[in-house]
Amino acid sequence: MAEIGNDIKKANKLLSNGEIVAIPTETVYGLAGNALDEGAILKIYEAKNRPKFDPLIAHVDTFDKVQRIVKKIPHQAKILAEAFWPGPLTFLLDKQELVPDLLTSGLSRVAVRIPRHPIARELLSTLSFPLAAPSANPFGYVSPTSAQHVQAQLGDRLSYILDGGSSEVGVESTIVGFEEDEVVVYRLGGTKVEDIEALVGDVKVQVNESSNPAAPGMLKSHYSPGRQMIMGNIEANLKNADRETTGVISYQKEYNVPEGNQVVLSSVGDLGEAARNIFSALRKMDQSHIELVLAEYLPDEGLGRAINDRLKRAAV
Ligand code: TXA
Ligand code: MG
Repeated sequence: MAEIGNDIKKANKLLSNGEIVAIPTETVYGLAGNALDEGAILKIYEAKNRPKFDPLIAHVDTFDKVQRIVKKIPHQAKILAEAFWPGPLTFLLDKQELVPDLLTSGLSRVAVRIPRHPIARELLSTLSFPLAAPSANPFGYVSPTSAQHVQAQLGDRLSYILDGGSSEVGVESTIVGFEEDEVVVYRLGGTKVEDIEALVGDVKVQVNESSNPAAPGMLKSHYSPGRQMIMGNIEANLKNADRETTGVISYQKEYNVPEGNQVVLSSVGDLGEAARNIFSALRKMDQSHIELVLAEYLPDEGLGRAINDRLKRAAV
């Protein structure tokens, strides 16, 4: 088992020695290592069992440090950075030579983000290198939003988990790239598309459904809760189901299944609250007595778009 604690110095020391450490961010927990050290990057891929064609995000705490690892920052990226950094937004930008190809899976762009979680920021401010940090889950499973989630699945693969409480956003960062004059959203996440469009005009949403190495990581089964899952009208789908072995993930309403089989994402209809709860809801459905999960789509706006995307992938 890994140690769970609040010791930033200890995390710094491990990371400076090329080890991997789980860290809190406002979106989800990350499995961090020195982004400029191939040995550390390899440890991350191995611990997650992640294919090396699926590149990692580099995390830094200042715009200056972003400039050290990318070539040019387009005008629109500057506008978005000003508005949303630190925060749940990742940019794909042309990488400098010093960024290892292993980090970007050989692609010419590197993914970079300034997180806003105070512990992540404090840790990053004490480091002279960026941190590569994919979500701290085994490849193909739901992202962790607490230190305990990390412990449950990767606890035997690392020595230290920096605890920062429950992730405040609850879904991963929105990923955007810049092509010609167009802003392209590659992953729906914690920064709302509407908020991005308010600043830079219409964007293209190009969320990948397959394991296309050109825009990797958006594998369909990425959020698999390990149970068969059906999306749609919960009431109707419950009619033919055995309620004892059926789990329900709903937006606001309770359904007639045993209490332990049910998660209401936000009884008051708050999409932010629903986002904070979605990944622990999917984890909860991984109980041995649950054989089938019924869930419904949320309003397809704001954070609802990112939540619906994760539900859709989980239900494949
Ligand atoms: O919120 C987040 O982004 C969290 C926290 C820890 O920061 N991190 C995260 O990392 O979700 P990960 O590795 O689970 O997802 C990163 C996604 C993957 O789908 C990957 O394929 C994509 O970003 N990505 C990374 N670098 C890329 C690149 N150079 N080009 C295209 N896609 C890239
Ligand atoms: Mg991930």
